[in-house]
Amino acid sequence: MSDSGEHIGLAHPGHAFPNLRLSLHPLIQHKVTLLSDERTESKVFRELVRELTTLLLYEATTDLPVHKIRYHTPLEETEGIRIAARIGIVPILRAGLGMVDAAIDALPTARVWHLGMYRDELTKRPVSYYNRLPTRCEDDLVILLDPMLATGGSATDAISVLKHWGAPHIKFVGIKAAPEGVQHVLDAHPDVPIHVASLDRQLDERAYILPGLGDAGDRLFGTGEESANIHKGR
Ligand code: PRP
Ligand code: URA
Repeated sequence: MSDSGEHIGLAHPGHAFPNLRLSLHPLIQHKVTLLSDERTESKVFRELVRELTTLLLYEATTDLPVHKIRYHTPLEETEGIRIAARIGIVPILRAGLGMVDAAIDALPTARVWHLGMYRDELTKRPVSYYNRLPTRCEDDLVILLDPMLATGGSATDAISVLKHWGAPHIKFVGIKAAPEGVQHVLDAHPDVPIHVASLDRQLDERAYILPGLGDAGDRLFGTGEESANIHKGR
């Protein structure tokens, strides 16, 4: 990592996606830079994903409905607020799992449902292999978690599943997105906001995000070819 020593302000980005909520807070941008650095090993990578999830959720939940309550401090009765929405958290396996702990710390009454999908290497299309949603959706808001939005196929399919399930409001919270993926979700689900820390440049021929951070699942869980070689002492 090189530091030019130049101090810059983070200007609001110009982008043409009405569904995209990009978080330009310096803490978020600092952490996403560390996360993307190829030298960041799994332990730190996992910590950064958790920290980023906390910060991104803070921004993604500014419009949560609340209701007023009366309660007592040790000194007197006063008025406060309680969150009025029932919230469901849905990580897309595997990489979405890295965001779950931070999400339930921030939203302790939320329930966690799981969807499993992987991208077929040839078609780049998502393949669903796990769905643990109960029969009926009883959540007012469902927050879909996945650090990566590349072609947008996984998020688009997952949102379709959640809508079919009956989710009345859905938000996607991730870390990095490619323009192609944001457009894909916008075309299919214009009502679903996408909250991410970074809108990257483009996809490569394998549909990986550039500059990106590589394979989020592998970096979170220490899997992948390179890790396997290290494990074998090569
Ligand atoms: C990654 C990522 C998303 C998906 C994004 O998962 O976590 O789920 O790819 O790509 P898309 O926008 O083109 O659909 P992957 O399929 O690698 O599975 P994994 O998390 O099990 O590694
Ligand atoms: N999934 C990842 O983990 N990384 C990418 O760049 C694209 C899809």
